[in-house]
Amino acid sequence: MSPEKELKKVTTNTIQKMKLAGEKISMITAYDFSFATLFDAAGIDIILVGDSASNVMAGHATTLPITLDQMIYHAQSVVRARERSLIVVDIPFGYYQSNSEIALASAIKIMKESGGHTVKLEGGEEVIDSVKKIVSAGIPVMGHLGLTPQSINKFGTYVVRATDEIEANKLRKDALLLQEAGCFAIVLEKIPAELAKEVSESLTIPTIGIGAGGDCDGQVLVMHDMLGINTEFKPRFLRRYLNLDEQITVAIKQYIKDVKSRDFPNESESY
Ligand code: KIV
Repeated sequence: MSPEKELKKVTTNTIQKMKLAGEKISMITAYDFSFATLFDAAGIDIILVGDSASNVMAGHATTLPITLDQMIYHAQSVVRARERSLIVVDIPFGYYQSNSEIALASAIKIMKESGGHTVKLEGGEEVIDSVKKIVSAGIPVMGHLGLTPQSINKFGTYVVRATDEIEANKLRKDALLLQEAGCFAIVLEKIPAELAKEVSESLTIPTIGIGAGGDCDGQVLVMHDMLGINTEFKPRFLRRYLNLDEQITVAIKQYIKDVKSRDFPNESESY
């Protein structure tokens, strides 16, 4: 690879500079080589190998069941596609909450076996020791506050978080703690836009919003939601850029028809 191309690779420093320059950061999830190749080539800044793989790839109701090895498998596939984007890999539920030694071991395993560039974990004060330990091992960490899906059994619902002052104050405090602990960025999920704006302005590190309004330093969406593959999920914050469900259904129905009617394959499609 030419040094010129090398320079264009997105790193955590690039992300920091984008915040300083007021340039918005684009982030999307991906879980496999083919989609990650398209997203990287299209110029996305960050690809998140999210534990939402548990929902959209494996069909689970929550993100809780996915294992560390399954996350590493998805991350390896995404990393093989990478030319330019920064790759962030979620540490799944159960692999960092118990103590900071386990958190560090999980982060190291992800970095060693997947080749991803950074890890992401959910929570504030409760995970600060883990964040510090991982960062001190030279592994960049992205935080995640607001609606943290790994805690769905505590919340009981996927409604907007931090709408009352107690939770909003905790989020303000947690964001500062994560920044002080060395996080290079923080995802803010499903919180009031005003609060996200205030937190984004108070931090020197970038915030990446999902359902957190337009004043975060960047935005993230789950690929299956924004491409219209998953049509059941219709939160207010979601903008759908394609209706792939319809297009795929039309194509598959036509294929079935062509096979049944012996139209496919024709002579020019045969050897
Ligand atoms: O796992 C995921 O897809 C995420 C995003 C919703 C930010 O954490």
